[in-house]
Amino acid sequence: MDRIPRLLLGHWPTPIQELARFSQSLGGPRVWIKRDDLTGLALGGNKTRKLEFLMADALAQGADTVITTGAVQSNHACQTAAAAARCGLRCILVLAPQAPARPEGNLLLDRLFGARIRWAGTQDPAQVMAQVAAEERSAGRCPYVIPYGGSNAIGATAYILAMRELVMQARERDLHIDEIVIASSSGGTQAGLVAGTVALHQDTRVLGIAVAEPAAVLTPRVQALAELTLQHLNLRVEVPVERVQVADGYLGAGYARPGEPERQAIERLARNEGLLVDPVYTGRALAGLMDLAAKGRWAPSERVLFWHTGGTGALFPFGNQLLGCEPSCLA
Ligand SMILES: Cc1ncc(COP(=O)(O)O)c(C=O)c1O
Repeated sequence: MDRIPRLLLGHWPTPIQELARFSQSLGGPRVWIKRDDLTGLALGGNKTRKLEFLMADALAQGADTVITTGAVQSNHACQTAAAAARCGLRCILVLAPQAPARPEGNLLLDRLFGARIRWAGTQDPAQVMAQVAAEERSAGRCPYVIPYGGSNAIGATAYILAMRELVMQARERDLHIDEIVIASSSGGTQAGLVAGTVALHQDTRVLGIAVAEPAAVLTPRVQALAELTLQHLNLRVEVPVERVQVADGYLGAGYARPGEPERQAIERLARNEGLLVDPVYTGRALAGLMDLAAKGRWAPSERVLFWHTGGTGALFPFGNQLLGCEPSCLA
């Protein structure tokens, strides 16, 4: 694993800590958190890890421009813009659907990092990326296209290493993690973690809380990508489907449409631990964890690790949805 080209963009290992007051407020289990919101690139997040491998590959291929895609408040797009700035590469973001009234949150940061933005409108963003790449080539440049979420075998490899990092941290503390809970969207993070548990012979379970798509779509994608990622490392190991657990009961009104469960989760963590989760990914995943704890998924003595994947740059543009827009909400 250590021979695969990698560019250092973050600070490792990210810390783990116990959430004692939060766990107490749930009445069990004991919840730990892995702070990938503190990766150290821009505002942090899971994409820093993936980009260490993707940017190394881009540089190895002689790229001078990286192109990727995401929603208006995409953390992945923002992290890519920051990584490109760090490497001295041009960055073009294909964002969907259209420009909002104000450049807030991650969109503001994209511009600060010098990214050029192409709005996809109603077109398929993958097709727009291909179009932009063709334009770049005909202008004599060398573009490198990073797929949605950075979720291919190169990007997901990072989370096999992240699992190894966690195994070492847990061993140092004599801590056994029964289950990891993580927000899952394009699936690369979960695929890497699942592949990591298989490759490293760990019995820790990985539960992805779907934030965008139903389990019927996400589960096979995660399983296929986990196997592809292991093959990328020359490991021909099958990933049993039982290893890929996806909970899709928390999709609410849909992707990037936070509601009361996300608001409560954000508030619970903020008020008990002084820590922040975001409204689209980690807030939804934490809401799922809270609900599953209330339904008795874990015994009080079990250790659950909430893997914080970042995203807090999107808290501010969602302020109105989270607090309501009446002045009384600020009282
Ligand atoms: C903050 C945050 N958490 C979790 C995820 C999900 O990661 P993945 O796309 O690898 O499933 C994302 C993806 O954009 C994210 O931005």
